[in-house]
Amino acid sequence: MSMVALRALGVVMDVYKKVVTAPAVSRPNPVRRSGFDLDVLVESVCDEADDVVSLTLIRPGGEPLPSWRPGSHVDLFLPSGRQRQYSLCGSPRDRFRYRIAVRRIADGDGGSREVHTLQPGERLRLRGPRNAFTFVQAAPSYLFVAAGIGITPILPMAHAAGSRGRLVYLGRSRESMPFLDELPEGAQIRTDDEHGIPDIAAILAEAEPGAAVYVCGPSPVLEAAQRRLFELNPSASLHTERFSPLPVLDGREFDVTLARSGRTVRVGAQETTLAAIQRVKPDALYSCRQGFCGTCKSGVLSGEVDHRDRLLSDADRADHMLVCVSRCDGPLVLDL
Ligand code: FES
Repeated sequence: MSMVALRALGVVMDVYKKVVTAPAVSRPNPVRRSGFDLDVLVESVCDEADDVVSLTLIRPGGEPLPSWRPGSHVDLFLPSGRQRQYSLCGSPRDRFRYRIAVRRIADGDGGSREVHTLQPGERLRLRGPRNAFTFVQAAPSYLFVAAGIGITPILPMAHAAGSRGRLVYLGRSRESMPFLDELPEGAQIRTDDEHGIPDIAAILAEAEPGAAVYVCGPSPVLEAAQRRLFELNPSASLHTERFSPLPVLDGREFDVTLARSGRTVRVGAQETTLAAIQRVKPDALYSCRQGFCGTCKSGVLSGEVDHRDRLLSDADRADHMLVCVSRCDGPLVLDL
């Protein structure tokens, strides 16, 4: 993986955000919730690689935690009030501990820097687990491609796949890659400094016919997989996890008015409603920026909303929208 790609990875990995792209034109999997809000304690903080720490979280009274499946994430409420998503990267068999890992992004929005200040004994609020990156249990074989901190959701999957799976783990250097000593047998480690820029198509070409291919990493890696997998292996399925907001597709300009302040702002064709709102309301709440966590849910007072989320029910959509992804065909007035 190139330095440029890894730098891009660094920029986007502060907040844990995800989307699943299943084969070609099928809809993303719905988000499955298996947990609820609960308090947790930071049991331990461990240096895993350059700028990467893992946190082990437990219930304050030692009770079991909600069960989870490989690919699940939790929402963590940081002491500052920030809400961020992180993949569970420990063992689903351990009912008493969750483990997350976070790369520190110096010029990110502050979430990762805050996680890196947390100490054992600190109490945090946690929501979840949720699963938006479903591990398909019945695949005949699996190819996992993880880049950098993208190893976090992939690691439990690769272990669950056992001998049916093959893991290719990409990174800048070994020092930058967490969990090297926890990889399943046969995992391939490819670093820029030892092997040069990875050829994603060549890696994908090694998937067996009908394989489930899981890719987690920065946009260039995901886009290469989306472009090439099906021409190389038409019977494969592709499952990707994204760490950055989705690009706006087919966007048109419209005006959004925030009723409580009376301010109106234009939403550009290439930007999200949330981005425009943040220009006049910098404290607007958000977390995943991909339409699955619900943090940005806003009341709609008027407007024909083009709902693009993965979360809201039809009843919710009658008078609410998720401004991180949804747009409007014409003027929009929000209860903000
Ligand atoms: S920020 Fe998560 S749904 Fe909008």
